[in-house]
Amino acid sequence: MKKYAVITLILFAVSFLSGCGDDESIGIGPVKKIELGAVDKALGEKGRVIFEQKCVACHKLDSKLVGPPLKDVTKRRKPEWIMNMILNPEQMTKENTAAKQLFGQYLTQMTFQNVSQDDARAILEYFRTIDSN
Ligand code: HEC
Repeated sequence: MKKYAVITLILFAVSFLSGCGDDESIGIGPVKKIELGAVDKALGEKGRVIFEQKCVACHKLDSKLVGPPLKDVTKRRKPEWIMNMILNPEQMTKENTAAKQLFGQYLTQMTFQNVSQDDARAILEYFRTIDSN
């Protein structure tokens, strides 16, 4: 009986620890790894257009609106995290520590804006363009 208890405890500990192995810094969503090259201004321009259609209702670059200011976001977060936040905000604010903290601070849920993964990549490039200036 005691032996089973020990085995159960070990199995529980292992599954718990492997669950904690998720990389918090890349967030939760479809983007696991991206490679970045030099800033692509044309892609960034495409991103700016999408940003101005779908994001400016809640975000400015230099000051708070409904959500946080987005200037320097590429310095605070990994590119994968930023794309996962854009593509999967509801799960991010529930399960990712940094996103959860933002939700606690801004008290509004960012919603998915019907952007494709390519759109999210273009928006990321727009942020990189701004942050490299
Ligand atoms: C309904 C308002 C709303 C819209 C629309 C919106 N956001 Fe957000 N965003 C928020 C809020 C609020 C947060 C903070 C987390 C939360 O509370 O959900 C946030 C957080 C973020 C963050 C994390 C910022 C940081 O400091 O780490 C990024 C990046 C972001 N949004 C990008 C975007 C982009 C890109 C779009 C357009 C595709 C967009 N958001 C559309 C409200 C919005």
